[in-house]
Amino acid sequence: MTRAPLSYDYRDPMRKPDSTDPILREIELLRADLRRHEHLYYVLDHPEISDAAYDGMLRRLQELETAHPEYDSVDSPTQRVGGAVREGFVKVRHSSPMLSLDNALNEQELAEFDGRVRELLAGEPYSYVAELKLDGLSLAAQYADGRLKLAVTRGDGLEGEDVTANARTIRTLPLQVDPALASAWPAFEVRGEVLMPRPEFERLNAQRAAEGLPLYANPRNSAAGSLRVLDTALTASRKLEFQAYFLLVNGQPALPTHWENLERLRALGFKVNPNVKRVAGLDELLAWCRMWGERRETLPYEIDGVVAKVDSIEQQRRLGWTARSPRWAIAFKFTARQAQTVLENIEVQVGRTGVLTPVARLRPVVVSGVTVSNATLHNEDEIARLDLAIGDTVVVERSGDVIPKIVEVCHRPADRKAFRMPDTCPVCGSTVVRAEGEVARRCLNSSCPARLKESLSHFAARSVMDIDGLGDALVDQLVDTGLVKSIADLYQLRLEQLLNLERMGEKSASKIMASIDATRQRPVERLIAGLGIPFVGQRTAQILGRTFGGIDAIMQAGEETLQSAEEVGPKVAQSIRGFFLEPHNRELVEKLRAAGLQFQGEVRAAPAGGGLAGLIFVLTGTLASMSREQAKAHIAAAGGKVTGSVSKRTSVVVAGADAGSKLDKARAFGSEIWTEAQLLARLGGARDERSGEEAE
Ligand code: IVH
Repeated sequence: MTRAPLSYDYRDPMRKPDSTDPILREIELLRADLRRHEHLYYVLDHPEISDAAYDGMLRRLQELETAHPEYDSVDSPTQRVGGAVREGFVKVRHSSPMLSLDNALNEQELAEFDGRVRELLAGEPYSYVAELKLDGLSLAAQYADGRLKLAVTRGDGLEGEDVTANARTIRTLPLQVDPALASAWPAFEVRGEVLMPRPEFERLNAQRAAEGLPLYANPRNSAAGSLRVLDTALTASRKLEFQAYFLLVNGQPALPTHWENLERLRALGFKVNPNVKRVAGLDELLAWCRMWGERRETLPYEIDGVVAKVDSIEQQRRLGWTARSPRWAIAFKFTARQAQTVLENIEVQVGRTGVLTPVARLRPVVVSGVTVSNATLHNEDEIARLDLAIGDTVVVERSGDVIPKIVEVCHRPADRKAFRMPDTCPVCGSTVVRAEGEVARRCLNSSCPARLKESLSHFAARSVMDIDGLGDALVDQLVDTGLVKSIADLYQLRLEQLLNLERMGEKSASKIMASIDATRQRPVERLIAGLGIPFVGQRTAQILGRTFGGIDAIMQAGEETLQSAEEVGPKVAQSIRGFFLEPHNRELVEKLRAAGLQFQGEVRAAPAGGGLAGLIFVLTGTLASMSREQAKAHIAAAGGKVTGSVSKRTSVVVAGADAGSKLDKARAFGSEIWTEAQLLARLGGARDERSGEEAE
């Protein structure tokens, strides 16, 4: 085998490859280097090499691991992409109970806690370690011989769920720690918090809103939802973080003070929150709590308080535990970012995909320094759940989300006015429908001005067609003046028409014309996302693009064929089909074609219902309906090729029963994964097409 030259030249004095096989030696060196750079990048926020150099090393390692499955390892940095799909979670008993903390709801209660500690320690000097109370979910990670072996959620404190495969995708949770440092303990356990940074939470919810999916209420829920999924690739796609706060050996803190344990965790490569402080007594502790109460919004993740822990482990042991919580620690909870106000009205907004969203108009109220006058109500089920009516006094909360929400009703006056979602669109008057199994009502009129404005904004967004200068104000002008009645009209605009608009200068008008023109060259995936098909966001658009190659193939595909694309289930397939069956939408597509936009892209899988020509297959696991030899023959007859191992050239991996590590590799390389049924459907499609040709 010829080997590509190494694309990096970094040398780490720590690494000690002990193998004699030069391939294994290279694999071990790459893994050690990648681990170090992962730590520099994710934990220390201080990368030493470029992303491209890192990707180059990772790719080289993937190539070697693919060619040498005998050297597979679950600790390899290539495992961070996830890929294993399981059927359920196994319950695991904790090595020692994961109890919770007693709360201090105000400064008085914190002083009382300190008083109890002082009394129990009978005048001995003591100090606290003050930490932030991270608003995520706790996780226990067990290591043996320096390698991550098991990760368990808190569960009921005695028993949690084994989420090891998901946890392996969290970049700040080391898969393996420095052997020199770990050798002190053959086994140890690290406990800490899994959280979702706020920007990731906002990105995720914006994406879900665009795809018509229910939103996560706060970053904690979305962290929990992302960790406890059966498809680990999904966990990997969410930017979860693990921050460590306990280092245990045999269920006990490893070193004599909490502070030293935190320092050792850092040295082992764990991320420990930098905002920790050793404080001498109550006054310093109170100052720390007040400071973080004010500064919490400046952090890129949510905190809901401060945790104070007695530093000396020996003193902790003497203070002991109650049935529920330690006597040596307390959670000082920040006052909730809540306030009471009156719900003055409920208005209904119409979104890009036609979804009607009720919005609460509130009597303005200040909640932790910000004036709040609107809150989202999501949908009519939420209004029913809260038993909400106009005139009610409600509690509003600013949680992780930028948009405040109503948590509960605290007073229902006699003259409250019940609210009913409208049966017609508040903007265009067309009938709205609530499809079975959906919480949302939608306006189905694709030329509804509200929908049109949203559609144009979405189409023009930077991550979609990227029309520089086409912001909300211009969208309003274009629609309100009647210049633009559909997305396709953008391509009919003339410079003079733009110049006639209020506040439009010659320079900006020419710039906008040029940016519209530039969208004719955008890859087809962007256009697919730009069409605004319900449930088809950017990721699905990419998958559709690379599976079907272009818009025509997607338009012609039946629901079953559409479902052969990764992650496209019946609901999405039905939505795509419904979209293209609608005459207005077909008309739009034809106008966009006539305007010269890119309709075809790179094909990385078979076109809909077409042959398998050009596709490279790998078969894994046992197929139920045919032998491997038969499958090979069928694929070859349809123009495909079958090879033995997964590489970056592999287009499709067909997964039979008990499929093994090839599946993980397929995910790592971004190959398509088909079930046997999907293969049969494609073979069927290929055969049908051939017979069709014969008939013609
Ligand atoms: S110590 C017995 N430290 O708060 C000790 N917990 O109510 C319990 N949490 O379940 C954990 N930040 O999920 C500790 N710095 C921190 C924390 C923290 C957040 C969470 C954790 C725990 C809950 C306790």
